[in-house]
Amino acid sequence: MRFITSIGDLHSVIAALRGAGKRIGFVPTMGALHAGHMSLVRKSKAENDTTAVSVFVNPTQFGPEEDFEAYPRPIENDRRLCEQAGVDILFAPAAGEMYPGGYATYVLQERYTEAFEGEIRTGHFHGVCTVCCKLFNLLKPHRAYFGHKDYQQSVVIRRMVRDLNMDLEVEVCPTVRESDGLALSSRNVYLSPEERSQATALYAALRRAEEVFQSGERSVAPMADAMRKVIERAPMARVDYIAFVNPETLREVRRVESEAVILIAARLGRTRLIDNLRLTAK
Ligand code: PAJ
Repeated sequence: MRFITSIGDLHSVIAALRGAGKRIGFVPTMGALHAGHMSLVRKSKAENDTTAVSVFVNPTQFGPEEDFEAYPRPIENDRRLCEQAGVDILFAPAAGEMYPGGYATYVLQERYTEAFEGEIRTGHFHGVCTVCCKLFNLLKPHRAYFGHKDYQQSVVIRRMVRDLNMDLEVEVCPTVRESDGLALSSRNVYLSPEERSQATALYAALRRAEEVFQSGERSVAPMADAMRKVIERAPMARVDYIAFVNPETLREVRRVESEAVILIAARLGRTRLIDNLRLTAK
C-alpha cells in the first residue's frame, strides 16, 4: 500500500495508474475507520482495479462550536486497517496541504443542503462539497463510494457530480450496524455507557415507523408519533429532527405512497447521532 501525504506525490501515482488504464475506486473518509468504512472499501475492491482511501478530517465542514479538535485521529490504526483490507493508496494530507494560505475557493450547493443537517450545521455541506470536489480532482476516480448512513450527504454529492459534470459514478452502500442496531459511526466513541445503551433508540424508532408503515399506515403524522414514543423511552436522547422525505429531492412528505426516507438526528449528551431508513411499500 502507498501511504501518501503530499499532493505532488499523489499526482504522479494517479497519472501512472490512469496512463496504465486502471480503473480507480475511491472511498473518502475522515478516518477513525470502522466496519462501515471498510464495507465501502470492500465494494470498491470488488469493482475496480485500484482502491484509494482518503483520511482527512476536513476543517471546512465543522462549525466553530463542533468537535473538529476532538475528532478521533488514530492514523496508525487506520493505516493498518487499510493495509489489511488490501487498499492500494491511502491519502492522508495535512490541513495545510489541502487548504494552503490564500485558499479562497468553495463549492456551494443550494436547496439540498438547506434543511436537516445543513440547517443545524450551518456551512457543513459547503465544506463537504468543497473537499469532495478537491478529492475527486486529486484522485480522479472512476467510482466514489459513500454510505447510506449519511443519506443527505449522499444526495448532495450525487447532485454536485451531476451539476458540475464530474466524470465519475457515485455508489451508495448500505449502513453497517452494531448487533443492537446502532449505526457504526466514528463519533460513537464519545458516548458514555449509559448514552451508548440509549443510542439504540434511533434505529428502534426507525424500525417502529417501518412496522406501522408495513401494517398499512400511509400518513406521516402517526408514524412520526410512533417514533417519538420509542424515543421517549431513552430520556437522554434529544431529537433534532424526524423527517419523512422524498428519496431524490429530500422534500418533506405528509404521506408515503410507495417510497420515502425517514431521517432522524438526535443528541445524546454532547454527541450528535444521525440515522435513516428507506421505506418501500411491499
Ligand atoms: P466519514 O464520517 O468518515 O464517513 C466516510 C464514509 O463512510 C461516508 O460516505 C459515510 O456515509 C460512510 N459511513 C459512515 N458510517 C457508516 C456505516 N455505519 N455504514 C456504512 N457507511 C458508513 O462522511 C464523511 O466522513 C465526510 O463528510 C467526507 C465525505 C469524507 C468528506 O469529508
